[in-house]
Amino acid sequence: MQIGNIRLSAPVALAPMAGITDMPFRIICKELGCGLVVSEMVSAKGLLYKNVKTFDMLRIAQEERPAAIQLFGSNPMELARAAKIVEADGADIIDFNMGCPVPKIVNNGEGSALMKNPQLAYEILARMADSVKIPVTVKIRAGWDEKNINAPEIALLAEKAGVAAIAVHGRTREQYYNGKADWNVIKKVKETVKIPVFGNGDILTAADGLRMLKETGCDGLMIGRGADGNPWIFTEIINALNGSCGKYEVPLDVRLHMIERHLHMLKDFKGEVIAVKEMRRHAGAYLKGMPMAAEYRRRINELNTCEEFGALLREYRNEAEKFLAAKHNFCSEAD
Ligand SMILES: Cc1cc2nc3c(=O)[nH]c(=O)nc-3n(C[C@H](O)[C@H](O)[C@H](O)COP(=O)(O)O)c2cc1C
Repeated sequence: MQIGNIRLSAPVALAPMAGITDMPFRIICKELGCGLVVSEMVSAKGLLYKNVKTFDMLRIAQEERPAAIQLFGSNPMELARAAKIVEADGADIIDFNMGCPVPKIVNNGEGSALMKNPQLAYEILARMADSVKIPVTVKIRAGWDEKNINAPEIALLAEKAGVAAIAVHGRTREQYYNGKADWNVIKKVKETVKIPVFGNGDILTAADGLRMLKETGCDGLMIGRGADGNPWIFTEIINALNGSCGKYEVPLDVRLHMIERHLHMLKDFKGEVIAVKEMRRHAGAYLKGMPMAAEYRRRINELNTCEEFGALLREYRNEAEKFLAAKHNFCSEAD
């Protein structure tokens, strides 16, 4: 799959997720086969006001490339200027956010509010695409609400504006993240434009990914929550695309090693205090479905240092191994 002049190693992208897709997590996903990573949403205004924390969000590691930085805003001139900053800072692709549903954003006419304002969306995208040499992409929703499903119309305008690829989350703004994503809308967008289309929404397994490709005809898959705590989904999907199926059961050791490594990457990137705080959430996601997850999630939420984290993970490894061995023995006896 190709976006402008950028060739992806695989037609599978990590969806932008605020609070999750920072540099460490993107590197992990890339290592496990993801073809394109996208940053958390970055405020165009924050860049123009030279906010230090906003600038930190532009950092890209060599090993995660190609990487897209996602911008949000609603002022065409500001977004064009912010796009130039992002380009100069070394991003490979600039993505524009037209999907964020939260009132703080929508009430400023940003994020998914732009689904209700196609003319302004066109102007923003045209100015952004004109102002930089790197590809500009856009991520949209199905529409504002079920009475206003206009993703195909917006996609056509985006293409006309010079956008190089489009990601469609098959939910309306009114749905937030609830209910089911409507993959039929993704299919309609694919039938409407010539630029590559990423299908997004409810891909939780490799089988879902294959079904999305088949049912919508989309060019690439974009995965959000399915990768949260499970970056191995990328390996599984790449394997499935190459014809081998079967779920990859992540061994306990591999999972725990990943939590520890993720923690240390976060520490190097953001310092210990923030790393431990943010890792509480990530670790909870990595432990989903594991033995005694609820108890250990509660204890993880009380940790304050990397050392405490390491000690608790070691304790968890011992307890979980005992639990799994007992379960194995019980099952063997039952056989
Ligand atoms: C915690 C969280 C944060 C998100 N942040 C962003 C964001 O910054 N930009 C964006 O375009 N979408 C964002 N999204 C939406 C996802 O990119 C994706 O469109 C949505 O979760 C549906 O895909 P999924 O079913 O694969 O999760 C976010 C979703 C979640 C759950």
